[in-house]
Amino acid sequence: MKKLLFLVAWFGLVACSSDSTEEKQENITSHPFGVMASGDSITAYVLKNKAGMEVEILNLGGIISRWTAPDAQGEFADITLGVTNPQDYRGAAKYLGALIGRFGNRIAHGSFTLDGKTYTLAKNNGPNALHGGEEGFDAKIWQVEPLEGPDPALKLTYTSVDGEEGYPGNLSVEVIYTLQADNALRIDYRATTDQPTVVNLTNHAYFNLKGEGNGDIVDHELEMKASRYLPVDIGLIPEGGPAEVKGTPFDFRMSRRIGEAINDTTHVQIKRGGGYDHCWIFDDTTQTLKSVALVVEPSSGRTLEVLTTEPAVQFYTGNFLDGKALGKSGKPYTFRSGFCLETQHYPDSPNQKTFPTTTLRPGQTYRSTTVYKLGVRER
Ligand code: GLA
Repeated sequence: MKKLLFLVAWFGLVACSSDSTEEKQENITSHPFGVMASGDSITAYVLKNKAGMEVEILNLGGIISRWTAPDAQGEFADITLGVTNPQDYRGAAKYLGALIGRFGNRIAHGSFTLDGKTYTLAKNNGPNALHGGEEGFDAKIWQVEPLEGPDPALKLTYTSVDGEEGYPGNLSVEVIYTLQADNALRIDYRATTDQPTVVNLTNHAYFNLKGEGNGDIVDHELEMKASRYLPVDIGLIPEGGPAEVKGTPFDFRMSRRIGEAINDTTHVQIKRGGGYDHCWIFDDTTQTLKSVALVVEPSSGRTLEVLTTEPAVQFYTGNFLDGKALGKSGKPYTFRSGFCLETQHYPDSPNQKTFPTTTLRPGQTYRSTTVYKLGVRER
């Protein structure tokens, strides 16, 4: 009898320990996230690394809906803005954390000409087209495939059909999110087309390194390796070519509080953007993966480094956030409660011939990589 009891206990122990090993190895999990008004069920995938960081990504729009990062004391907080009801991502929380395409940012008058043919897009932002149209990639349901490997990763795919939102060509898009052991989220974008088209993909994560819902972001400090930016007209379309940042509120070559000159409306560009909502051009515009920006949040010590293969970034300070979106911890997302660093090509490139091209032709592969690396700086 004693022997039998011993055996039962031993089997129990083995069973328990193998269970817990399995749990430890489970670095990708999924759960239901809710249902859209259309009836589509949304799934959330959670990537977890050994440092305890978690990134939650939805099959809706490839949205980064949650991202936990430690502060200088090792305290985790959710540092991206997001909502709990997926339908809100079609309304007040539009673009929060989402993949943006087929063309991120604005195209003047919702129109462009390619190879002599003029294409008409929806004017969903005043007189201009914004972020891929009425129903851009942020609003689409993507196919999601967890990827095996040392770092948890997800492959998201979406096919945008010829004529969708007015864009030519069937565009096959693949985005891979990889959560690295060094607390960096790497985003690899790829796309191919069967007709000449234009492509400008990005992610629209809103960060607040104090934790989402925790006030505004004006005390964050930002440094960008960019001596030039693109001044804009009143519709935020680049106008008049690149300008030097030197001596202007746009000078972030040395680390500076985001809020320092954000309200300096004596500068017409601050007035037009309602703060920062502009495209900065990196000094290094080569297609290599280079470090381009560093954000430090002094009270928590959290830092965000951005690396990209893109030549530019739209730095947007949440000037349109008006409290209508109720955040996941129940707090409204008010004016400037998050900032975005949307790596990309220049806005309105299809119409501005001096800008680096955003044309993609059959046989070519669009490739882009951006890394958002979280860290800490001692207080
Ligand atoms: C981008 C634009 C902003 C705004 C946001 C979404 O960053 O540049 O003007 O449209 O997206 O609200």
